[in-house]
Amino acid sequence: MKFFRRFKILGTGSFLPEKVLTNHDLEKMVDTSDEWIKTRTGIEKRHIAANNEATSDMIFAAAKDALKNAGLAASALGAIIVGTVTPDTMFPSTGCWVQRKLDIPGIPAFDVSAACSGFLYGMEIATSMLPSIDKPILVAGADALSKITNWQDRGTCVLMGDGAGVVIIAPTTEDRGYLSSLLGADGALGELLIQHAGGSRMPASHETVDKNLHTIDMKGNEIFKHAVRTMGDAAVEAIAKSGVPPDDIDMFVPHQANHRIIEATCRRAKVPLSKTHITISWHGNMSAGTIPIAFHDAVSKGIIKRDDKVLFAAFGGGFTWGASVLVF
Ligand code: ACO
Repeated sequence: MKFFRRFKILGTGSFLPEKVLTNHDLEKMVDTSDEWIKTRTGIEKRHIAANNEATSDMIFAAAKDALKNAGLAASALGAIIVGTVTPDTMFPSTGCWVQRKLDIPGIPAFDVSAACSGFLYGMEIATSMLPSIDKPILVAGADALSKITNWQDRGTCVLMGDGAGVVIIAPTTEDRGYLSSLLGADGALGELLIQHAGGSRMPASHETVDKNLHTIDMKGNEIFKHAVRTMGDAAVEAIAKSGVPPDDIDMFVPHQANHRIIEATCRRAKVPLSKTHITISWHGNMSAGTIPIAFHDAVSKGIIKRDDKVLFAAFGGGFTWGASVLVF
């Protein structure tokens, strides 16, 4: 095996807020049904952050879990990288909020904005920084999509949830890390999935609030088609570049936006569903949070074991995408 970048995953962790919103709860809020949501998306419930619970609070909880599993003190960390599109504040970054909670001043901390691909973008940056940092790096994927969801729009609100996943990576000379990793983006398609207001393009005003322009606006059907094609092709390319025969991939952990998108991606990438870790039913789409949460779930249940070859693939707003093959 030829390693593209060596690193060792020392620990993983995750956090989901306490409040659970089921499909039956949603039936009372918008014109929808448990049957429609389950059949069209595979989602049964999602977790919703409390009013006073921010993205960094979820990451802080997931980080404590990951540090414990890694057997590390927070002071051992050399950097914090957060993939999110629902930062606590536009600035300071969520990474800086997390750093403050972990009480480890001095090390670099920042956010990466790549929507559902945010965790894979963060991993790409973290693994390239490892040689110079030479200490463990905390990579988080986390989103509180409930905070930017239009709860009157049945086309989007049934999909979204909140949660955080954390992975701690460290330099190693062992035969593990990335065999391949690729990222991509196509800004020309950005308006198919967008939060219009709140940035410099359209600053917040009474009008933007009245028109619901701070919530997710998406063309679900269009996104579906692009997601299947792009995530599938990225997975195929990552497998080819890794040099691993497709049948030797032990587990696929895809971004979890819709069960049907995952199924179609598996067909396109020729990865069997039996080797795909699907967790969407119990948390919905948490954007950058889905891959590290599903990965942590698989690792903690022993579904992914040391030396397994794991495929990641994601697609999200921007549009952005990424895929990688790693040896755990
Ligand atoms: N309950 C009941 N009916 C609904 C609902 C609902 N919640 N939502 C839509 N419908 C209706 C539509 O109005 C439409 O009715 P019509 O035929 O009378 O016009 C019908 O169901 C079919 O609608 P479609 O949009 O064609 O349904 P589709 O099978 O495409 O599923 C979905 C819609 C689930 C949104 C799908 O397109 C999808 O998952 N797209 C990808 C979304 C995604 O991944 N977004 C990422 C956002 S997160 C981020 O990146 C920040």
